[in-house]
Amino acid sequence: MFSDNTPTPLGAKEAKLFRDVCQAAGYTSPQLEERFGLLVPPPSDRLPATLGARLDQNGTPLDVLAKAFFLGTAVDTETANALLPDGFIRLCLQCGLLIEDGTDYRPTALVTPVGTALLASDLQRIEYQDEEQFVPALCDAALHLNAVAIRQSVGKTLDLCSGFALHGVLSCPHSETVVASDLNPRAAAFARFNAALNGFENLRAVTGELFDAVKGERFNLILANPPFVISPDAMTTYRFNPIALDGFVRQMLSQAADHLEEGGILQTICEWVEVQGQDWQDRLRGWLADSGCDVWILPANRQLPASYARNTLAQTISDEAELAAQQAKWENYFQEQRVEAIQGGFLFIRRRAGKNWFDVTQMTKPIRQPIGDAIARGFSNRDLALSDDSDALLSSRLTVANGLRQVETSHWKEFRWQRDSIVLHLDDGLPVSIGIDEYVRTLLEMFDGSRPVLECLDRFANQVGLAIETGRKQGTAMVRSLLKNGILVATGR
Ligand SMILES: C[S@@+](CC[C@H](N)C(=O)[O-])C[C@H]1O[C@@H](n2cnc3c(N)ncnc32)[C@H](O)[C@@H]1O
Repeated sequence: MFSDNTPTPLGAKEAKLFRDVCQAAGYTSPQLEERFGLLVPPPSDRLPATLGARLDQNGTPLDVLAKAFFLGTAVDTETANALLPDGFIRLCLQCGLLIEDGTDYRPTALVTPVGTALLASDLQRIEYQDEEQFVPALCDAALHLNAVAIRQSVGKTLDLCSGFALHGVLSCPHSETVVASDLNPRAAAFARFNAALNGFENLRAVTGELFDAVKGERFNLILANPPFVISPDAMTTYRFNPIALDGFVRQMLSQAADHLEEGGILQTICEWVEVQGQDWQDRLRGWLADSGCDVWILPANRQLPASYARNTLAQTISDEAELAAQQAKWENYFQEQRVEAIQGGFLFIRRRAGKNWFDVTQMTKPIRQPIGDAIARGFSNRDLALSDDSDALLSSRLTVANGLRQVETSHWKEFRWQRDSIVLHLDDGLPVSIGIDEYVRTLLEMFDGSRPVLECLDRFANQVGLAIETGRKQGTAMVRSLLKNGILVATGR
């Protein structure tokens, strides 16, 4: 049965002991991934049989910790007492993470490792997900947002719709202060527990609708994984957009600019719809027109209503008849609302005085490594590439991105190699693969950061035999595109 209890925050000494025991046992995300092939805890009421059987051997401290705190299942007291230090079990019982139940210790919460942090949340159970006060554990969307989050030193960070405050806790080391805000008061209790568990004192957890609990406050960074799933009726608070279609995300964005410092950035992962007869980019542009923000959208996937409905519903409904009935209801709704497709991805906005830009970058591969630095560079590159002021671009110094690879294919014909293609690949940061021609390759070779763009373009024109004016015009367009792709980067000189 779902319980309202949340664990009591640990003191600094106990928190350190907890972290040390987890570290020594190898209870870390890379080890869990290597051992079980999982980063995100599976629902404990739908555990794959093979996983349970493997862990029943209970051979190591890692097995016991994973069974209790990653899978959320009971461990027998004898094995746990034999494998884990005394003090550790005691503190888990004292703070309420474990309760003694006959010959078992039963977890009341998960504690999921993410990077170097440990994050407590409610047990991951399908049967709990309809509970208003449910605080979800780590999910894929949270990991994706974490991968793109900008991790530069800032004053104030807001984790909006924070849940167990993963984004807030991971922002503590590079923020002077962090606020975690969520509608659900139990989320604030978990956020406080998690800040203490990870040894941070600079996180404040508050409760309120959207920005209500931070009225009048401005932030340098806002990270938000809001309830964004689009459905005919919002079935749970934590996952489903409570306003028609993508209305909740729109509302969040419309209020965000007032909570950003000049230069402050909001990064969100969300979904939005394509409505028949309307260009989706114009629709989103309209949401943020006059917001005083630059807008950078990174769509990652696009689904037709039928597959979106099926894929989303199948995550929680296993009964085929119920699934079919719900799917029909969802498809009707999408048809009535003239939804042609649902897109998912990232939306970044940055408050900036002056003429704002709007840009879309289609993501071609899932992001696995943290790329926050590349996202921050993406903003400065776009400031140059999308500015009407070509003087700023022409006087800047650019260099070719580290790690750029070139793959050239040719075929043998008529006694010589005939080139088929030259493709540039950038694996670091936002993955890029673009076909170029000989001209662009020659142009790229001009950029070593030592001279302004204008000089590079004139050298390029000389080298390929173009008139200087033509070289400047064509070269500028190429440089703008290469900057947007991250293949050229500003040196800051
Ligand atoms: C998808 S969960 C994300 C939780 C966490 N940030 C993460 O990344 O795992 C969305 C969160 O938004 C919260 N929420 C839902 N409606 C809200 C609202 N109107 N205002 C503030 N928070 C809300 C839910 O309680 C839930 O914790």
